[in-house]
This record gives sequence, structure tokens and C-alpha cells, in this order.
Amino acid sequence: MIEFQSLIDAARQARERAYAPYSRFAVGAALRTKSGRVFCGCNVENLSFGLTICAERAAVFAAVAAGERGFEALAVVADSKAPVTPCGACRQVLAEFSPTLPVCSANLEGAIFQSSIAELLPRAKEGILGT
Ligand code: THU
Repeated sequence: MIEFQSLIDAARQARERAYAPYSRFAVGAALRTKSGRVFCGCNVENLSFGLTICAERAAVFAAVAAGERGFEALAVVADSKAPVTPCGACRQVLAEFSPTLPVCSANLEGAIFQSSIAELLPRAKEGILGT
């Protein structure tokens, strides 16, 4: 059994640091590495909307910049009716390092949806560059 509760708590705290003045939709993410470290991310928006970075990619990039590339689990938290799963761009970035990564999405009421990158983005890397 994957332990998600501490990751959900970390994602919820990261969400408090979101910079989302345009959408007003704050998201937090927490990514646990195989070595047991946890890297958090929040969405950071920009007046030039396309420059916005999602919470999930912020977490992956922080982890990779710290020298970590092996990931065990991801939690995503938002204040939405249904728990939010990573967007297509974030799924692709997560698949780069962890094509089968377990993902737990939660809202502030505690509703949970468990999935994985394998399920959310099947065949993400097959065939590309001879893989
Ligand atoms: N967002 C995330 O950070 N992660 C998701 O999984 C869904 C969307 C952000 C991007 C944008 O700042 C805001 O939420 C609205 O889409």
C-alpha cells in the first residue's frame, strides 16, 4: 500500500503558496522520491497566461534540479468538487521519469481519486526515438 496521507498534507500546504491571481484556482503538488524525499510545487501564474506553470511540473522540476529522478508517488490538491488530475503537459513531463507513477488527487473536503501516469497517459513514450 502506498502511503499517500503525508503527501496529501504536503500538497495541501504547498497549495497555500500558489500564485494564481488570474484563475483564482490554487493547486499544490507533492512528489516523493524513491530515496524518501518530498518535493512540493504550486501553480505560478503570469500576466502572459501561457507562461503559467502547474503545481505538478513545479514539483518535478524542483526534484530534478535537486538531483532526484526516481519517483515513488505524487499527490495533487485543489479546491474543486471532483479531485483534479494532472493536465496533459504535466502527464507527459511526469512520464519522462516515471511512466507508471501512482497519483493521488484530493480536494479540500477529503475526496480522493487514485490513478497512475500509466492510466492517465498510456503509451506515453512508446516508439519515440526508437524506444
Ligand atoms: N493547474 C495546476 O497547477 N495543476 C493542475 O493539475 C490543473 C491546473 C493550474 C494551472 C492554472 O494556474 C490553474 O490551475 C487553472 O487552470
